[in-house]
Amino acid sequence: QAAQALKAIARNEHIKSYLQQSEELYPLILQAAKRFITGESKQEGLVAAKEMLGKGYAISLEYIGENTKGEKECREAKEEFLQLIEEMGTASIHQTVSLDLSHIGLLIDTEIAYDYLIELAEKAKSYNITIMVSMEESSKTDDILNIYKKAARHYPNIGITVQAHLYRSLEDIHELMDYPGRIRIVKGAYQEPCDIAMPRSKELNDRYLQLVEQVVKANHPLSIATHDEPLIRQIEQRHYLAYPQVEIEMLYGIRPDLLKHAKDNGYTSRIYLTYGQEWYLYLCHRLAEYPENLYLALADMIQP
Ligand code: FDA
Repeated sequence: QAAQALKAIARNEHIKSYLQQSEELYPLILQAAKRFITGESKQEGLVAAKEMLGKGYAISLEYIGENTKGEKECREAKEEFLQLIEEMGTASIHQTVSLDLSHIGLLIDTEIAYDYLIELAEKAKSYNITIMVSMEESSKTDDILNIYKKAARHYPNIGITVQAHLYRSLEDIHELMDYPGRIRIVKGAYQEPCDIAMPRSKELNDRYLQLVEQVVKANHPLSIATHDEPLIRQIEQRHYLAYPQVEIEMLYGIRPDLLKHAKDNGYTSRIYLTYGQEWYLYLCHRLAEYPENLYLALADMIQP
């Protein structure tokens, strides 16, 4: 219930614009958000990326945004991603850029999102950078997978995220292994109807393991993206992290101890960094999936 309330708050435009205009609240909430985001600017994202690379992590970097409705805003987001790729490339950060297709046009026209994705992948290819496509609400799954499949034939440097909680993912993953791109398996961050998705449960963890096993056994590039310690322990016991094409990936600010442990054990360990002014929704996602974070957020806000 707390999670649902937080998601409703996150999507309420009145609350969002009130907070953005409030000179007192905005900096306080930004302070709380900084537990999970690197900052509002690309520069802050790049500084954090270099710091994490220096510590031996791989990185993904996302310019935060989703559900962009204006054509101009989608074009601007695409330009920001192009600049990000350019700056990563010239700084020899041959890593991963993550994005939501709804940030670059999916809601306006799937062709726009496809064209922009190709433009970004082309630029990324010249710098040996990977573009990782996030998975969004189930209403967008078909469009996202179709765009990915069309693009991935020509650009093996594009990867795709699969949500273990969707029942359909068991079939989707077989098809996705026909394409060369890395598959990132997550549990799923969106509230979905129970006839198409499982809630957090043992059943979901078993499904997660099943998907991981299939991708590992096919020798396909895989990112295991979870902070679930018992689940990771099961994955470790099966030695899946020791395969060279497999990596573990976690969100910045969430269970850094677990990721450090994986890195210290010699496993490729990727940290998912974000920056941008649209951090509010990202923060709400992190609070909603783990409402205990509300206490941390409040503490962050009142600490000097
Ligand atoms: P679960 O939610 O069961 O949590 C397990 C444990 O992890 C918790 O008990 C707690 O200890 C810790 N934990 C989890 N979330 C936490 C939080 N916010 N704060 C503090 N502790 C927390 N989703 C999606 O739908 N589409 C996508 O494209 C992506 N992309 C993505 C990339 C990467 C790299 C990661 C790691 C995650 C995503 N996600 C995502 C989010 C994902 O679907 C999921 O919501 C979160 O990873 C939380 O789920 P866990 O697998 O960690 O397990």
